[in-house]
Amino acid sequence: MSAHPFHLGPVLVGRRHIAAAVRRVAEGILDDLHAEAGGGELTVVSVLNGALVFTADLVRHLDVPLRIETVRARSYRGDATTPGDLALRMEDVGALAGRHVLLVDDILDTGRTMHRLRAEIRQRGPASVRIAVLLDKPARRAVEIEADHVGLEIPDVFVVGYGLDHEERFRNLPDIHELRGDGA
Ligand code: IMP
Ligand code: MG
Repeated sequence: MSAHPFHLGPVLVGRRHIAAAVRRVAEGILDDLHAEAGGGELTVVSVLNGALVFTADLVRHLDVPLRIETVRARSYRGDATTPGDLALRMEDVGALAGRHVLLVDDILDTGRTMHRLRAEIRQRGPASVRIAVLLDKPARRAVEIEADHVGLEIPDVFVVGYGLDHEERFRNLPDIHELRGDGA
């Protein structure tokens, strides 16, 4: 028996495709901002830890005045791929009144994290709230929510790398891989 019953599978999205997806998301965000009337600056709210790498790459394509805030989301999973309870920590987020808020996460899966987070953020009086995710797994959605900006849609497979983890491992990989169970 190995210490980890899962291992790294094949690359699902390579680094060049990731980079192109990040640029597309950034362009969409800038288009939205330019279309917005009445001013208001951008606040990027990054969902740690998963969105760390995506956020770092994304904001370097956003050549507008912006602030970066972070929230911490943890979904406790019954097993490797099933989300359980959600803990959201956002006490450090600064004032959002009148600002255009962009929620950034690595992946939209069941949608529960973004659904909760968006509701909390809306209570703080922002000018707008939009959602950007690198990956979208629409087949897994459990609540009604869509991202405004999606890098890539993927099938219902568990993925790691480019910020995405399995039990905190693999976040540092430059490509996105499938995770495989033993025997797969
Ligand atoms: P939600 O189910 O949309 O609330 O997503 C909750 C969180 O689960 C995401 O922010 C990710 O961090 C994590 N997650 C969902 N699917 C995957 C995956 O395939 N690999 C790694 N993390 C995932
Ligand atoms: Mg995560």
